[in-house]
Amino acid sequence: MDHYAVIGHPVAHSLSPRIHARFAERCGEALDYRAVEAPLDDFAGTTRALFAAGLAGANVTVPFKAEARRLADRVDPVADRAGVVNTLRREPDGSISGFNTDGSGLVRDLGIHLDFPLEGARVVLIGAGGAAAGVIEPLCRAGIGELVIGNRTAARADALAARFRPLGPVRVAAMTDLPPADLLINATAASLAGDLPALPDSLILPDTLAYDMMYADAGTPFLDWCRVRGAGRRADGLGMLVEQAAEAFLIWRGVRPDAVDVLRMLRPRAAPF
Ligand code: ATR
Repeated sequence: MDHYAVIGHPVAHSLSPRIHARFAERCGEALDYRAVEAPLDDFAGTTRALFAAGLAGANVTVPFKAEARRLADRVDPVADRAGVVNTLRREPDGSISGFNTDGSGLVRDLGIHLDFPLEGARVVLIGAGGAAAGVIEPLCRAGIGELVIGNRTAARADALAARFRPLGPVRVAAMTDLPPADLLINATAASLAGDLPALPDSLILPDTLAYDMMYADAGTPFLDWCRVRGAGRRADGLGMLVEQAAEAFLIWRGVRPDAVDVLRMLRPRAAPF
């Protein structure tokens, strides 16, 4: 039996163990998956010890994704450009490879579950940390028309846009000057704290899809804000969470599990937002 884990801090309420247990059951794969809380000051030590003891792979979550990028012996090009890794795999020679499945998870959620046409869309991305960096390249590769980054600290948005401009139509706008969005993504950590970034009302069109990368059954302050301003469609990050997990499972096991089945298990009825 191969062993896997999600490593984060805090991690107790992570849905990943349930998601991967269901994937394994449905795909007939014998594996065990658990949540491990690493101390804030010792992600590397904890993770290396787990792999030395035989761990086959790990998901990495807040706040360790940049450290996971540094820990991996080899990093796939998308994760390398993003600077953040959310999936680790032990190779036959004992070395550790790093990947980032967050961006492809987001793109699959938008295309498959939300039926959102990314081709030509104007995407406004709020936030300039690791969560934002992880999704930019897959969005650009999906053929979006424009990606506009807004962040509370403008210099971080500038730096992020400069890194990704060679890959696609990426630009920066001041938070007060963001254009109306076809797709408005909240990639800030604000929702985690029950907070919301300061945004202009002009961002929202009647057919804007507002997407919070955080998942929350009862909605988030950001999704409430968008609904009140007339955003016609709203989604939290549950679909992205399940799809990034499915991509990780594919990387580890060579089989792509059925995300729809797991989404139904986690949220049998439509979310109230
Ligand atoms: P992560 O890896 O989760 O993205 P991070 O690198 O610490 O974490 O980045 C957090 C992001 O959320 C940043 O864009 C941060 O804005 P600043 O760069 O100005 O710090 C943003 N953020 C966090 N709390 C916020 C809030 N209350 N309002 C607006 N932006 C917020």
